[in-house]
Amino acid sequence: MRIAMIGSGYVGLVSGACFSDFGHVVACVDKMPVKIEALQRGEIPIFEPGLQALVASNAQAGRLSFSTDLKSAVAGADAVFIAVGTPSRRGDGFADLSYVYQAAREIALALDGYTVIVTKSTVPVGTGDEVERIIRETRPDADFAVASNPEFLREGAAIADFKRPDRILLGTDDERAIEVLKEVYRPLYLNQAPILVTSRRTAELTKYAANAFLATKITFINEMADLCEQVGANVQEVARGIGLDNRIGGKFLHAGPGYGGSCFPKDTLALMKTAQEYDAPLRLVETVVAVNDKRKRAMARKVITACGGSVRGKTIAVLGLTFKPNTDDMRDAPSLSVITALQDAGARVRAYDPEGTDNARLMLENVDYAGDAYGCIEGADALVVVTEWDEFRALDLDRIKQALREPVIVDLRNIYRTEDMHARGFTYVSVGRAA
Ligand code: UGA
Repeated sequence: MRIAMIGSGYVGLVSGACFSDFGHVVACVDKMPVKIEALQRGEIPIFEPGLQALVASNAQAGRLSFSTDLKSAVAGADAVFIAVGTPSRRGDGFADLSYVYQAAREIALALDGYTVIVTKSTVPVGTGDEVERIIRETRPDADFAVASNPEFLREGAAIADFKRPDRILLGTDDERAIEVLKEVYRPLYLNQAPILVTSRRTAELTKYAANAFLATKITFINEMADLCEQVGANVQEVARGIGLDNRIGGKFLHAGPGYGGSCFPKDTLALMKTAQEYDAPLRLVETVVAVNDKRKRAMARKVITACGGSVRGKTIAVLGLTFKPNTDDMRDAPSLSVITALQDAGARVRAYDPEGTDNARLMLENVDYAGDAYGCIEGADALVVVTEWDEFRALDLDRIKQALREPVIVDLRNIYRTEDMHARGFTYVSVGRAA
């Protein structure tokens, strides 16, 4: 199969690299020449475990190429995937579809023979209809179908998620399109990944429903954590106790500082807006969005309380800045709200993140960055763990105790054992566990 991938961001790049690894010939396109030139040199603009090697081997084998030339990539392709960004529109929170529609216009002009155009970007219900209308209007003669094929991969585990998905969702009622897409996904299909074929609108909505449900699960356990703290219960045990019930499931029940990232915050907001527009409000999702927004800043209060009521003039060491481990992505990271709130309360912040520092510098002001975890902690008045990178789990706690001016640790990811920390003489505050 010949595949064109329009947009070489997270989803486009990972999907393109994985499709080429299946043996398809993939042309990844992006409007940014700097990005494409870097990719042509084998430089990957994001940090994602395994991606560099996957891109290198498939580029070397001649199956994966990068270009700004959309026209040549699309002409002759069996399937054209649209994987451009759909950020929140400033002001109203709706998904900004201008990149998707622009791509549709350019694709239309380049179509050559029957082609399946597939939206892989997360797009609101009805976007496929509009993409189809734009293409038909631009090229009334074109032979094509528009399908929805949402992507469910997670950052940090993107390649494994792509290659071993829980399901593949194909939203189209065009028989030829279903055949082409089944061929594209044949390696996974043979691997027993369930393929669901639905209408295009159902597929578009399913993607938002999945993200909203996961965000709800996280928010549920986060509120339960607050209650645990009040009643002297342990949220990790509650999560295990409910998660072993197959109807609930144990995943996405880790309490923490609130969900962040490039997907949950924007997708829950966009879904909420769509539902309001159709006069079928999703009150549960509206509450999830509000509770999560409030939570991120509230985490700073936890730190202030642990520091005896004030952080004015104090140095707070922050370990972990990215919205989750194994990524350099800082979009909507809880660290942004926590750090800003601490600074507003008069604290100086020194931070360390294994991969996120470059991006953090662009988003945070007046933060000192350390080269490693111990350098970050040295002489600080308290330590706050915001992101659970593995390298923080096994830090030398005695060394930390000596390095800190006061032995205060606020662990927003519950990576240490409460009894251990108390035995070592720390003032230790975590999430949803008795202090
Ligand atoms: C999420 C979904 O998990 C993917 O299925 C989806 O494809 C993707 O969004 C997307 O729409 O593109 P991602 O944002 O990469 O993936 O990361 P997650 O692992 O889902 O984490 C999101 C946030 O939730 C992080 O801030 C994380 O720390 C938080 N989280 C997650 C918790 O606080 N507790 C949990 O138990 C799980």
